[in-house]
Amino acid sequence: MITIALAKGRLADQTLDLLEQLGIDCRELRGDSRKLIFTTDDGSIRFIMVKPSDVPAYVEYGTADIGIAGKDTLLEEGRPLYEMLDLKLGCCRLAVAGFADRKNSGITNSHTRVATKYPNITRNYFAGKGETVEIIKLNGSVELGPLTGLSDVIVDIVESGRTLAENGLEVLEEIGPVSARLVVNQVSLKTKRDEIKRIIDGLRELLEGEANDS
Ligand code: PRP
Repeated sequence: MITIALAKGRLADQTLDLLEQLGIDCRELRGDSRKLIFTTDDGSIRFIMVKPSDVPAYVEYGTADIGIAGKDTLLEEGRPLYEMLDLKLGCCRLAVAGFADRKNSGITNSHTRVATKYPNITRNYFAGKGETVEIIKLNGSVELGPLTGLSDVIVDIVESGRTLAENGLEVLEEIGPVSARLVVNQVSLKTKRDEIKRIIDGLRELLEGEANDS
């Protein structure tokens, strides 16, 4: 049996669409069930529904053989996993954002405060530019940082750009693209190689087919 850790939330439905195209029956996972563990009728796959930021931990410790999570989460967690496939779902970007005037006055100065759900990504990004910033870890609605004066700028994901625009903020610097990735536990890749390979090859074929159609 293969255990797959799926991120609950915005990625979930798109991921299930993809798995269903592979012939995996995901009906039980849809809807408003509060169940957290599902096993397919033939007993070949078990799904565990986890908070997106917890997917890497379940895969690192081998509780799940496979995980599907955003690149943002993988970068932030920095755990030793094999990243096998870009599923091209949940595409967005990581960016530094704030009020436009920050661009002219320089994004960072001697004491810039950055609010973010991603302290590790933020630290690494600014350290890579040789800049030190004060990081304030928030758990959501980080756009409030500059709006309330809690922080000067934010580091966050931008998808449609609506949240920034509706709050008078804009992207100041691009950090990098984000999409959902399939990750695999390092031991499982050896011990359950054939089952894992079958899933990955199937998904890869599907994705290539979709790319050729568009
Ligand atoms: C994310 C992100 C931004 C927003 C970006 O938040 O943190 O706030 O979505 O999307 P947009 O560019 O399409 O507007 P999420 O909805 O996950 O909620 P949260 O702020 O509570 O984490």
